[in-house]
Amino acid sequence: MKIAVYGASGYQGRLVLTELARRGIETVLAGRDPVRLKEAAAVAGLPGAERRVAGTGDHEALVGALRGCDGVINCAGPFTSSGAAVVRAAIAAGCHYVDTSGEQLYIKEVFDTFATRARDAGVTVVPAANDGCVPVDLMAHVLADRLGPVEEIVSTHVIVGGGGMSRGSLRSLLETIDAVKAGGLTYDGGWRPGVPARHAAILLPGQQEPTPVMAFPVPEVVTIPRHVRVRRVEGVTEAALGDRLNMPLTPQLIDSLPEGPDEDSRRGQRFTYVLDATAAGGRRARGVVQGPDTYGTTAVIAVEGARRLIADPAAPGVLAPAQAYDPAGFLDFLAPHGIRWSVEDAPAA
Ligand SMILES: NC(=O)c1ccc[n+]([C@@H]2O[C@H](COP(=O)([O-])OP(=O)(O)OC[C@H]3O[C@@H](n4cnc5c(N)ncnc54)[C@H](OP(=O)(O)O)[C@@H]3O)[C@@H](O)[C@H]2O)c1
Repeated sequence: MKIAVYGASGYQGRLVLTELARRGIETVLAGRDPVRLKEAAAVAGLPGAERRVAGTGDHEALVGALRGCDGVINCAGPFTSSGAAVVRAAIAAGCHYVDTSGEQLYIKEVFDTFATRARDAGVTVVPAANDGCVPVDLMAHVLADRLGPVEEIVSTHVIVGGGGMSRGSLRSLLETIDAVKAGGLTYDGGWRPGVPARHAAILLPGQQEPTPVMAFPVPEVVTIPRHVRVRRVEGVTEAALGDRLNMPLTPQLIDSLPEGPDEDSRRGQRFTYVLDATAAGGRRARGVVQGPDTYGTTAVIAVEGARRLIADPAAPGVLAPAQAYDPAGFLDFLAPHGIRWSVEDAPAA
């Protein structure tokens, strides 16, 4: 099996390369800058790996860079401006596609724009193969199996420690800052922007007091309604993040920061993603996934996500994680990487 990494020279791209090398999967480095690709190959311990140079503005070159590969992992963000070009090229090259995007409107655009084209080409596309969307989307499917038709799902993201966001994540945030500040999309029979969160506070695992929360554009608001019969899905995060979003963020400031958190900081990071589901009859259940190191976990998930599309093909088209992978099987695969998940009944509200 041969997997290309587009945007292989970035912070996340190099972590993906390292994971592919650890797993002994044949890797092609792709990107726009030959010098940075060569450096990335050396850092990831893949000096002999094939390198292919193509920018997102040249469709034919991009198709050529992906041709002959079984799958591509696109790590080139911000995705809002450059992601669609890589999806289009992967479909033309007949190459299964995953990416590490977290930009909610881009993820919805991939579903809206490429579903038919990917299906016709026999290619499977799974956007947002990252630490948050994949486990939470899979867990939503497990919760719905338990509850039946669901009235409401609330997805809460909390990340503690870890040395902050990478420059690439900050660039993605800057490109989408208005949508983020407005809270992103809520699903309510359709996807709508600017809907206030119904929940102002959530009791997180291990806490005595509810944590104040605010609406936040988590990717799974876009993916969950594609495989769960649900009336409403909203995403929230700690309200304390609101102050940080209002701090001035400029391209110059981002350029002056480190490329991303170092290994020690990543190891000290802890994410908690909580899914609260309420069935039509009022029965409630909660899913929790916790783990370390969002960027390292994203590398593990993106590589395994691409590998499964090739080794154990899903239907062609643009798919949510739970449409592409066996939910409990994929979640259990993550356990040796320190990721724990649980689903249990919750007291009625
Ligand atoms: N949970 C999540 O939501 C989650 C988790 C992990 C990562 N991510 C996302 O993953 C993305 C990558 O992050 P990062 O830290 O790796 O960023 P980064 O270090 O800035 O790397 C970005 C990569 O994309 C390439 N690139 C950027 N714009 C391009 C364009 N127009 N055409 C071709 N290549 C382009 C860069 O190439 P050069 O080296 O040539 O500049 C580089 O290889 C971000 O969007 C981040 O938000 C999201």
